[in-house]
Amino acid sequence: MATAAPIEWIGDATTGALRLLDQTRLPNDVVYLDCRTVETVFEAIRSLRVRGAPAIGVAAAYGVVVSMQGTADRFDTEFITALGAVCDRLASSRPTAVNLFWALDRMKQVGSTIAGLPGAERLVRLHREARTIEVEDQAMCAAMGRVGAAYLTDGMSVLTHCNAGALATAGDGTALSVIYAAREQGLQIEVYANETRPLLQGARLTCWELMQRGVPTTLICDNMAGWVMKSGRVDAVIVGADRIAANGDAANKIGTYSVAQLAKAHGIPFYVAAPSSTFDLSLADGSRIPIEERAASEITHGFGKATAPAGVRVFNPAFDVTPASLIRAIFTEKGAIEPVNTETVRRCLGKPTSPQ
Ligand code: MRU
Repeated sequence: MATAAPIEWIGDATTGALRLLDQTRLPNDVVYLDCRTVETVFEAIRSLRVRGAPAIGVAAAYGVVVSMQGTADRFDTEFITALGAVCDRLASSRPTAVNLFWALDRMKQVGSTIAGLPGAERLVRLHREARTIEVEDQAMCAAMGRVGAAYLTDGMSVLTHCNAGALATAGDGTALSVIYAAREQGLQIEVYANETRPLLQGARLTCWELMQRGVPTTLICDNMAGWVMKSGRVDAVIVGADRIAANGDAANKIGTYSVAQLAKAHGIPFYVAAPSSTFDLSLADGSRIPIEERAASEITHGFGKATAPAGVRVFNPAFDVTPASLIRAIFTEKGAIEPVNTETVRRCLGKPTSPQ
């Protein structure tokens, strides 16, 4: 059974809305939220009602459409200014996932070519680009799933961190698309899901999604991963990514770096699955990837209950960076990158490998 779609466009380009599955309510409630303004889309991304790098990009692209519905008829310069302001606002919602900026750049690019058109036609063009971004993401998920599945064999047990599944993309996911593809090929693959403190994307989302799709799933707390590996229960680790630098250093949910170190210590292959839209070749390595810091209350008052003394100092980075040296291979829609370095990344993405 397919998981409930995290993102859906309802209606036509001029009056329609962006419908999001509110992921903050899972696994208890399946609730949808219709966004019709830039602020509702901004809040949905900021609050992780929609989350996961590719899904954020798709939601932001459709968010541009709803945000422009009231101003599409303006004179050319006003239209371009309004579009720029909308994109800037959505771009400020979260800093780490590069898919957000990549998608907004595409929307701005289309906006710059439609200034002379009537308002309704401008909205149709913007909506068409958002839909293209969504469809491309679906295809990339399917392709990277097939690429990654070639690395798995029957009976393997795979550990994953955070949620890099259908809930995090417009398609079948990144890391989890590999699991789904392998199982479609008849391989019996089971999953260990790290719970993913502090917002529990692994427990709330990955387990929910995998169980809906009939994948044998075992939930563990993040601090159990080392022992679970030591006891021989994990054959491979597969995670997603929010931004991958030119040399293959990969930012992903906080805790991923620890898992990669543990995998190395236990001789377990560590894989990243990500579409080309997650690569940021403007950054030579991962040291310049902006790492989001979130509210202390996510740690001190997880899900409403005080779990730390009032006033305690808190550090809450939402992402970390795993160096390329710890990554056995990166699965993309264009093929696998292995070994992972600047040259192999560029070659896989179809970029010239030496400066022109
Ligand atoms: O804070 P989140 O839930 O948006 O973080 C998501 C992740 O870290 C995912 O692993 C990543 O975006 C890959 S999604 C296919």
